[in-house]
Amino acid sequence: MKKGKILSGIRPTGALHLGNYFGALENWVKLQNDYDCYFFVADWHALTTGYENTSDTKSNISNLVIDFLSAGLDPDKCNIFLQSSIKEHAELHLLFSMITPLPWLFRCPTYKDQLAQMTDKNITTYGFLGYPCLQAADILVYKANFVPVGEDQLPHLELTREIARRFNFLYKEVFTEPQPMLTKAKVLPGLDGRKMSKSYNNTIALSDSPEDIKKKVLTMITDPQRIRKDDPGHPEVCAVYAFHKVFNEEEVTEIENQCRGGKIGCVQCKRNLADKMLTYMTPIYERRQEILNKPEYVNEVLQQGNENATKIARQTMEEVKSAMKIDYNLF
Ligand code: TRP
Ligand code: SF4
Repeated sequence: MKKGKILSGIRPTGALHLGNYFGALENWVKLQNDYDCYFFVADWHALTTGYENTSDTKSNISNLVIDFLSAGLDPDKCNIFLQSSIKEHAELHLLFSMITPLPWLFRCPTYKDQLAQMTDKNITTYGFLGYPCLQAADILVYKANFVPVGEDQLPHLELTREIARRFNFLYKEVFTEPQPMLTKAKVLPGLDGRKMSKSYNNTIALSDSPEDIKKKVLTMITDPQRIRKDDPGHPEVCAVYAFHKVFNEEEVTEIENQCRGGKIGCVQCKRNLADKMLTYMTPIYERRQEILNKPEYVNEVLQQGNENATKIARQTMEEVKSAMKIDYNLF
């Protein structure tokens, strides 16, 4: 017996990098064994900020599914689907938009933050303001029990719970309140020691080839105070060391000591890291090549996932419309 229903989504905005992977996907792969999982490509969410440039959306969607599968999501264990294939997300979003007070949306911290940060895009739109309401529909249409999210998404989950309560209060107990599932995400900095981010051009993608990974590791920023091998190092400021903590747990204490004592060179330390990373990443890369050899596979996975998701979403919408007494057909 599975321990409950889990739902989570990722926006298709380009190749997933290791920061994204360790922030979410790595955990999903474990969860699929114990929970009834629904993982989706949040393509409508991508439009809330990216409505102007949609030329890559289609390829981003299939690449994200390939990222999911190569990371180890198994369509025999979990449901992988595309948000825009399940029209019930949109229908429930519309109904929720009727009962969600505007102040709930305006006070969302992510709304204020992104509005202040994204000065290059016009996101003073209805869709952007309402995006947490769409997210509530994503979650509640499956009556998910748990939602694995990062800390930044907690306010959205709280809003989802408020919308569920408001609906249940106004009409009838249809929705269960989902719980956030916070995971201690392993934090990987970018190659330059800043946050790993596409906009800093400091990422390693899940789809990078073993050769690319090796090359990128050799460009990583280390402790700037180490010029010669016997200079005492400060691993806490070194991106390579942060990576060792994730990929090389067995040797991390030893590396720390050797670095502080000036007993290893940075190049040697990087080569060691690259080896450990390749042990981990090569199977992921090989799975990707297998998937790329089966051109119909991504479609098949999505079709099956969409079908399973649709069944639940339709059932919920029937309950919703009946609770609201708008389940009329023809007169
Ligand atoms: N809001 C999430 C993000 O932008 C993606 C997302 C959309 C999501 N709907 C969701 C996550 C439902 C969890 C549950 O990254
Ligand atoms: Fe970083 Fe390793 Fe060099 Fe120390 S020896 S500064 S941990 S790369």
